[in-house]
Amino acid sequence: MTRDKTPPNPSLLDQVAMPGLAPHDPGAETAWVEVVQKMDEIYADLVRYQVALEEKNLALEQAHAFINGVLGAMSDVLIVCDTEGRILETNRALERLTGLRPEQCTGRPFAELFSAESRSLAERFPEHMRSTAPVQDCEVSLAGGDGRPVPLSMNCSPHLDHRGRLIGMVLIGRPVGELRRAYEALNRAHAELKEAQQQVVQSEKMASLGRLVAGVAHELNNPISFIYGNMHALERYRRKLETYLRALHGDKTPDARAQLRRDLRIDHLLEDLKPLVEGSLEGAERVRDIVDDLKRFSSSQRGPRTPFNLAEVVERGTRWALKEVHETIAVTSDLPPDVEVTGYAGQIQQVVINLVQNAVDALRGTPAPRLEISGRVEGGMVVIRFHDNGPGIPPENLHKLFDPFFTTKPVGEGTGLGLSISYRMIREHGGSLSAENPPDGGALFTLRLPLQS
Ligand SMILES: Nc1ncnc2c1ncn2[C@@H]1O[C@H](COP(=O)(O)OP(=O)(O)OP(=O)(O)O)[C@@H](O)[C@H]1O
Ligand SMILES: [Mg+2]
Repeated sequence: MTRDKTPPNPSLLDQVAMPGLAPHDPGAETAWVEVVQKMDEIYADLVRYQVALEEKNLALEQAHAFINGVLGAMSDVLIVCDTEGRILETNRALERLTGLRPEQCTGRPFAELFSAESRSLAERFPEHMRSTAPVQDCEVSLAGGDGRPVPLSMNCSPHLDHRGRLIGMVLIGRPVGELRRAYEALNRAHAELKEAQQQVVQSEKMASLGRLVAGVAHELNNPISFIYGNMHALERYRRKLETYLRALHGDKTPDARAQLRRDLRIDHLLEDLKPLVEGSLEGAERVRDIVDDLKRFSSSQRGPRTPFNLAEVVERGTRWALKEVHETIAVTSDLPPDVEVTGYAGQIQQVVINLVQNAVDALRGTPAPRLEISGRVEGGMVVIRFHDNGPGIPPENLHKLFDPFFTTKPVGEGTGLGLSISYRMIREHGGSLSAENPPDGGALFTLRLPLQS
């Protein structure tokens, strides 16, 4: 909006100088001219002031429009109040969330904008702001237009005039509903993932249990079947002996008794009794050993840490892992016989089973498969190495081996948990487990455990 700076009419002086308007008295004429000149100056000044005023007004209007535009574009809620907490100004973001237009808010206590549960907290903002520091990232909710609370992260700062005096407060709230919903969705997904992971861990446990049970069944079947066979033979022998003894105490002639002894093969029977009983005893002992192994495996998973002979545990674990293996793998083991370690023998045995099982899997298809297990005491640690002559580990996989669920085996053949669980167990024993491809080929897993002090 511009104005023409030249006055639309001729000046007073010009009018005075117009023909036909000349005064009669020359003295009075001079005074008159001076007055008119003065008035002319004042008039020109007035016009200048008006122009300047209109320019300022225009700038003010533009600044106002600019501020309104910015406030309207803000996605954060803005509430400006006086020192009494009465609303002076709000923006469009507030209107979008609460449905209240600025003119409906002006003059109302600001706390009325908040939901019932946040109101008392909001009412304390002025006092809090005066006594301590500005309110920062306070979680409150507005009363939403649809009646539901709208969560905001609220900041509240003092509003000062140009002399630094407190004239009210400025509240700025960032809607966190979306963020919170995303956070809750993330939480839910995390919980589901954890549950799924637990299920997988559980099914891995069940699978190892299944493998163990299959091994145990196979192992028990042998001694039990020959104890069973022996018992049948013993029962047969018992019946024959009974018949023979009855004949001895009966009224049979010595010849008839001798004949009966031959017929019943009593002498052979007496010879056979000893190996039968010994065989059964051996079978029973083997069953007892297997049960002992199992007891050690299951009972030492919890409870206090106990010292155990490491070589025995490694050998037992290896034996168990190889039970169901049909390929012929040359397994050698060279372990220090008297090394004791304190911890959970069952867990260490489980680690050994995992490592040997992995080696067996890796050796499938390798000509002349070999697994060398060796142990040495180095410093305060006992170091057990499992070295196979399989294909080794692709270098790009080396750093992923101990990650949970990392597997290169087909679905259903490996969960990828074996090494990660083993790693955790060994760390809990104060030791370490590492993998490498040694220069002479294959894969090498090194297990370090602290010696019993
Ligand atoms: N001796 C080895 N030689 C070559 N690769 C190996 C050897 N041992 C482990 N790996 C690799 O490490 C991966 C992870 O082993 P891990 O024992 O954690 O899981 P998995 O054997 O695949 O499954 P799970 O143990 O649950 O049956 C294996 O899939 C295999 O690729
Ligand atoms: Mg494995």
